[in-house]
Amino acid sequence: MALLNVLRYPDARLHKTASPVTVFDEALKTLIQSLAETMYAAPGIGLAATQVDVHKQVIVLDVSEHHDALVVLVNPEIVDASGVSDIEEGCLSVPGVYDIVERAERVKVRAYDQSGKQFTLEAQGLLAVCIQHEMDHLKGKVFVEHLSQLKQQRVRAKLAKQLRKSA
Ligand code: NI
Repeated sequence: MALLNVLRYPDARLHKTASPVTVFDEALKTLIQSLAETMYAAPGIGLAATQVDVHKQVIVLDVSEHHDALVVLVNPEIVDASGVSDIEEGCLSVPGVYDIVERAERVKVRAYDQSGKQFTLEAQGLLAVCIQHEMDHLKGKVFVEHLSQLKQQRVRAKLAKQLRKSA
């Protein structure tokens, strides 16, 4: 199993819209396994297929302390949301940048597992925020795009600097 290359903001491919999964086959299971391994290796608490340039509605998450509670959401859909959360977010596609985005405190998500079985998940706090963050990726939106124009300029400058340093 290979670790996947995570796209870095402002890569234009992060703005593609993911299509729903229609076939639940071995290729999907392999994708999910690679996404999970890439997320754990980073390490991160969430990864959307969009971030590895696969434009299908698949996300993996694990907000547990011991990294033993993998959540896989295929074709996720928020069916209920309430409250307001302001947890600081980070993103594997925007390394070194953390900021607060206003999200719902609780969400109810309907999704499919890797075998195509539908289920409903109720989440709150960090998991709820993480789900909303990853679902944004599937719509082609990166969390920093919720920030003010000034902050976004600063993020782009910071990332350009990181890139020059690593070149
Ligand atoms: Ni992200």
